[in-house]
Formats: sequence, structure tokens, C-alpha cells
Amino acid sequence: MKKIGILTSGGDSPGMNSAIRAAVRTAISLGWEVVGILRGYSGLINEEIRVLDSRSVSGVMQFGGTILQTARSKEFLREEGRQKAVNMLTKHNIDALIIIGGNGSLTGALRLHEMGVKTVGIPGSIDNDLYGTDMAIGVDTALNTIVQAIDKIKDTASSHERAFIIEVMGRESGYLALMSAMASGAEFAIVPEVPYNIKAVAEGLRKRYERKRTNSIIIVAEGATSAFQIEKELRDEIGFETRVTVLGHIQRGGSPSVFDRLLASRFGYHAVDFLKNGGSGKMVGLVKDEITFTPFEEAVSKVKPINKDLINIMGLLGT
Ligand code: F6P
Repeated sequence: MKKIGILTSGGDSPGMNSAIRAAVRTAISLGWEVVGILRGYSGLINEEIRVLDSRSVSGVMQFGGTILQTARSKEFLREEGRQKAVNMLTKHNIDALIIIGGNGSLTGALRLHEMGVKTVGIPGSIDNDLYGTDMAIGVDTALNTIVQAIDKIKDTASSHERAFIIEVMGRESGYLALMSAMASGAEFAIVPEVPYNIKAVAEGLRKRYERKRTNSIIIVAEGATSAFQIEKELRDEIGFETRVTVLGHIQRGGSPSVFDRLLASRFGYHAVDFLKNGGSGKMVGLVKDEITFTPFEEAVSKVKPINKDLINIMGLLGT
């Protein structure tokens, strides 16, 4: 191994820069050359590369986003696009790739691995939906951002004696919704993994009002339904007026938490170590605080189950 490339792809997540920094510095310590590929798989196809030395990753850990920038490449989804990417790697003598991203990005990594490219994946997605790791980079920071926002909404919910419906990200996963609901003391969490029953939510709200609990917070994962849909259903069900807040992309930004910086640094180091030992086609992960490697096929196709114990606890504490 002489030269490796690093790219970030798909939705950015806070902490990606720490992973880049760790991978660059670990690779340099082995005497390897490192290049950054800009804008994910688009940059790979369009030859957007730049040399990464130790200095180039100084002072980046405290920033959210990714210094390599990111994109969702349509061209890479096609065979010709992927062939262009492989040709580009050959042209620039890049021996292996580190791909930092979520489900779609690691599916791309799997395709490259199948085409004979040495690859290792690092889970970076606020959704925390990748099988093979307890936590992905950015999840902890996103949760902190969400909980801070909910705390603020609770102030006004309490003053006005209102119910708020807050929509959080999580295309396929209710992880952010469930965890933020528990950590903020919300009353209800609606997640894609458990079918919701609007009558039960309405009944819960009604009972709270009878007990003079005149403000409530309902967290909805975008993957379950939209907050506006819940608002409509509650209005139709019990004529209940609520307010809706969609947190949106604020959840993906901000300075990474200590947890995310440490996790990303460990992942960056171990991704390089994995390549050094001749590995390919796997995603580095953290399971019970141990570094693990999961084949891309499993990481992107196996469903990471939601923690049923936490669903039960939430059901109890939220009422
Ligand atoms: O996959 C991460 C994520 O933030 C999802 O939670 C969300 O649905 C999606 O990305 C939004 O993607 P985009 O920024 O491309 O609209």
C-alpha cells in the first residue's frame, strides 16, 4: 500500500473531520500518501482530488460538516459512472479507499469492492441505522442539538399550555426520535419501527389535560410520518389544536461532541489499520466499546433493531 484516498459521501454528520484527520495521520505514520476526494463519489468520477498532509487536517476537529465536502451522486448509481470512478483510481495510482458515510455511501463502497477496489467504510450518519455499530459518527451531536431545541420549545409550550409536535430526522430509523424523546422528557415518540395509533396518542393527551398537565411534546421521526400529518389527525380525532416544529437540517450541523470526536478518531485509525492488514469490503464499527468489522453486505442490508427495552421505558416515563 502506497497511496490511499478518503471521501465523505451522502448526508454529512458532525465528527467526519475527526475521522479524516485520524485516517490521514495514521496513514502518514505508515509512510503512505493520502489524497482527499472532494464531493464524494461525484469527485471520484470527476477527478476532484487533493493531497492531504498532516498540516491540512490541523484545526478541523471542532467543525461540523466535512472539509472534503459531500454529495449524493446520481452518476455513481450507474455502471458507467462506477467504471469511470475505478478508472480514475487506477489513473492516480490510488491503492485503496476509505469511505465515510451512511447506508447509500456504503452500498457504493460495496459496489467498488465487488469491482476489485480495496475499500473500508466508516459509519457517518446521524440516523444511526447502520447494522454493525452501536453508534455512527454524528449521532451523539445530533441528539444533543435536538434535545437543546426541544428544551427551548418546552419553555413556550409550558407558558402557552400547548401541545407541540416536533419532527426529527431518521429516514428509516426511529433512533433519534426515541432517544431525544427520552432525554427531553417528551410525552410521546412516534417511530417507524412501531405502528402508531393516533387514538391512543389523542387519549393520552386528553388524560393529561384532565390531570391539568396542559403542555405536551410529541416527537415524530420523519420515517414514520410527518408532524403535519399527526397534527391533522389529532385535529380530526379530538379537535385538538397543536403547534408543529420541523427541526430539519439544523440537526446535521454544529460542533461535534466529545463523544463523536473520539469515536471518529478511533474509526479513522482502525480503518487505516484494517487496510494495512490487507482487509477490504468491511465497515469499522463499535460494539460494546470494542472495534468490530462488518461486511458491507450486512452493514447495509441487515436491519438494526430499535431497542425494545427503551420503547417500554419511554412508554412508562412519558405518561
Ligand atoms: O441520512 C441522513 C439524513 O439526514 C436523513 O435523516 C434525512 O432524511 C436525509 O439525510 C436528508 O437528506 P438531504 O440533506 O439530502 O435532504
